Amino acid sequence: MDSFEMSKMAGAVLAALLLIVATNVIVTAKTASSPTQPVAGYKLPTDTATAEAPAGEAAAKEVAEAPAAAGKDGAAAPAKDAAAPAPAAGGFDAKAVVAMLASAKAEDGAAKFKACAACHQVKKDAPSAVAPNLWGIVNRPKAAQADFATKYSEAMKAKGGEWTYENLALFLHKPKDYVPGTKMVYNGIKDPAEIASVVAYLRTLADAPAPLPN
Ligand code: HEC
Repeated sequence: MDSFEMSKMAGAVLAALLLIVATNVIVTAKTASSPTQPVAGYKLPTDTATAEAPAGEAAAKEVAEAPAAAGKDGAAAPAKDAAAPAPAAGGFDAKAVVAMLASAKAEDGAAKFKACAACHQVKKDAPSAVAPNLWGIVNRPKAAQADFATKYSEAMKAKGGEWTYENLALFLHKPKDYVPGTKMVYNGIKDPAEIASVVAYLRTLADAPAPLPN
């Protein structure tokens, strides 16, 4: 009994001690944080206000200096850009692609055409969806797929002429260069041999494939 009373008392003392320690901690925490927080809190706006001004000035200066730097780069870049496409355009020879047609493999073109099939139907009489059906495309007048008539871009409708092998090669090499403003979202095929195989495949999409060039 005695020891029980003792431990009860000890417990009470411990509890009291704990409470004191706890309140102490809370009070110190509060007093420690309250003086610094408001000070920092009040000071901050003025600090940032004054700090922002120079930052803003610096930024303004950077902006002011930027065009000068960009101008330098800008002057150099177009020169490079202007030089780059010239050999590229000169480097691509659509006639060479046409010359490759006789030996090009339509099966390879069919494999490559998977990227085109996302948009283009190729089966005879299949309705055009997001792109004109390409059945009979070789030597067909441009923008002439009847059920796509209202959807062709103005650029494609204005292009004129027929899809000769050479025109197909030019278009497939760089659609946006051959028909600026085309709706066809496709970057083009770089490799002339690949273009030849795709055109060879397109040629097969007809009841009577167009004759191969000599
Ligand atoms: C993202 C969809 C898309 C992909 C991929 C695509 N095309 Fe097209 N293609 C179009 C659209 C749309 C048009 C109509 C363009 C216009 O009116 O300017 C078009 C037009 C054409 C034409 C002219 C058709 C006509 O009736 O005058 C040919 C040829 C052609 N594409 C071939 C290809 C080939 C070959 C590929 C793959 C190497 C390909 N396209 C990939 C959407 C696509």
